[in-house]
Amino acid sequence: MKLKEQIQSWLEEVEAKTFSSADDVEQFRIDWLGRKGRMKDVMAAFKESPNEEKRELGKLINQFKQSIESRIAAGLAAGTSDAIEESAVHDWTRPDGGAPAGAHHPLSVVRREIIGILERMGFVVSEGPEIEDDWHVFSGLNFPEEHPARDMQDTFFVDRNPDMLLRTHTSSVQVREMARREPPMRIIMPGRVFRNEAISARAHCMFHQIEGLYVDKGVSFADLKQTLLRFAQEFFGADTKIRLRPSYFPFTEPSAEVDVYWGLETEVDKRITKGTGWLEILGCGMVDPAVLEAAGIDSREYAGFAFGMGVERITMLKYQIGDLRAFFESDLRFLRQFQGQY
Ligand code: PHE
Repeated sequence: MKLKEQIQSWLEEVEAKTFSSADDVEQFRIDWLGRKGRMKDVMAAFKESPNEEKRELGKLINQFKQSIESRIAAGLAAGTSDAIEESAVHDWTRPDGGAPAGAHHPLSVVRREIIGILERMGFVVSEGPEIEDDWHVFSGLNFPEEHPARDMQDTFFVDRNPDMLLRTHTSSVQVREMARREPPMRIIMPGRVFRNEAISARAHCMFHQIEGLYVDKGVSFADLKQTLLRFAQEFFGADTKIRLRPSYFPFTEPSAEVDVYWGLETEVDKRITKGTGWLEILGCGMVDPAVLEAAGIDSREYAGFAFGMGVERITMLKYQIGDLRAFFESDLRFLRQFQGQY
């Protein structure tokens, strides 16, 4: 077939061409106009053709080229208008899937649960400052002058005022509450505390405590024990066992540490309980008469108990979290696991 007829038949082919997608249009462009496209062959054949035919052939080839280009333009335009049509039929009044919901931090979940249990027993929530003075953190709690907790190694002091420090426990709020309230009082005091510790899987320089205080006439150690047993059974389950081990705090006498029975069946149980089956959850005791007196409460008339628990520790127990640092790293893969928990 002579070049002229060949082009005329291609022209018909091109003019009839339809596209089903933008990719289709692009493939067509490459086939004809690409670096190795068929137009190259057409031009090569044109060069070889006799000179007297070149004028007419040249016109035809130009027309053919324009035809290809306008097919491509039309194909691309169709693609765009399809897209426009599609968005025009989208129903914008349809309800969407809802915004992605955040999750409560596990420490907030547990803090709320602990407070809920104690509130149902008649405790009310109170808070105090994180930056405190020596009186509320140490002296008012019967810490002797040379007590190691007062050491720079354990406590963050404020540079410009050595009397000011970051509270190392929420017991400081006990001192504030006893000074401003009249007994009877039943208070829980949640908050952050700070200690100069190297950060590891088991320790952090900042953590959370919930302090409890009950002062009234005739408060006994039996009341303390029953309150803590009841708390542990509400929090960990009705058949939870606790034990009290004698301990020492400057501001309580007698003092105890409370363990919950964790179990000793698996290797993990053995490891986390150090082979005993028991895990410590809090410190407690009868408020030392000297502490009541320092706060202006008559210790011959009133008695009290106090306890302080670590929220991280209890959360790790409840959710079997092996590394304390997970609470403070804001890793969404960790935090999302608590979605839907209140
Ligand atoms: N404040 C103590 C601590 O941080 C805990 C505690 C609170 C002990 C109340 C007895 C009474 O370790």
